[in-house]
Amino acid sequence: FSGSPFYAKMIVCVNKFGGVFVGVKLDGRAFADKLQEELKQEVATWKENGKRLPKLVVILVGEDVGSQVYVRNKERAAKKIGFYSQIDRLSDEVTEAELLERIQQYNNDPEVDGILVQLPLPKHIDEEKVILTIDSKKDVDGFHPMNMGKLFIGKPDKMPCTPYGIIRLLKEYNIEMAGKNAVVIGRSNIVGKPMGQLLLMEDATVTITHSRTQNLKEITKQADIVVVAIGRGEFLTADYIKEGAVVVDVGMNRNAEGKLVGDVKFDEVSEKASFITPVPGGVGPMTISMLMDQTVANRRED
Ligand code: GUN
Repeated sequence: FSGSPFYAKMIVCVNKFGGVFVGVKLDGRAFADKLQEELKQEVATWKENGKRLPKLVVILVGEDVGSQVYVRNKERAAKKIGFYSQIDRLSDEVTEAELLERIQQYNNDPEVDGILVQLPLPKHIDEEKVILTIDSKKDVDGFHPMNMGKLFIGKPDKMPCTPYGIIRLLKEYNIEMAGKNAVVIGRSNIVGKPMGQLLLMEDATVTITHSRTQNLKEITKQADIVVVAIGRGEFLTADYIKEGAVVVDVGMNRNAEGKLVGDVKFDEVSEKASFITPVPGGVGPMTISMLMDQTVANRRED
């Protein structure tokens, strides 16, 4: 390990579990900024050459507080990179037919490169129908069954941004996935299932766990990589992991004091993990960068 201050630091530290690991932060913020800077430079050359800039349309239905924040962050990133973004704010009384009609308009608009409908949607609107209506080529969220299908046969095109961002972040830190035991907690279509598939494509041995899983702790303690996406604040404590595990936290929750916390109890897990994503500043910024990446990619191919 000579010449590597980072490993040297790990060796001299003995954590309270009697081990040598002190989790290195997987700095999603820094890597996401770097990727966005690269996109910005690419888009700037297009502008100089008179090429039309990419355009992302974000459709937000209703007043969900979380969704408002996510959408604002997406718009901010798009502006920073220098492409057009448009937030289409619709009342939560919009009918399903009106929403589908609106999506069709964007599908048919050659100047729109990416369409994203922020979830969740009001109960009277069928989410599945909405996702199916988005042109799969403009589905920069990667939620359309065509894109999901391509992913699950190992020929990905547009990918769900959160799991894709996680894989990119792990690769950036040269974290070995091939042959490793990877455990995903959560089985949603947005994160858990595609996360499992992407880890499988990296040759990890994958276990997807969920709310009905028995003996969860016994399973997670075998994991070299744990991805937690269950939406329960500070659920994963140090006793769930083995020394030196890589821990990825997808959670965004408010605790009793109103503080933003992940699904992982960061202070104690970070002492036992080898690498860990913080909240905020871990997975969240990567999700946004992947969204921008997949939107710019659509324009690049034109
Ligand atoms: N709601 C929570 N996460 C997401 C996401 O990644 N995309 C969309 N469209 N809605 C979400």
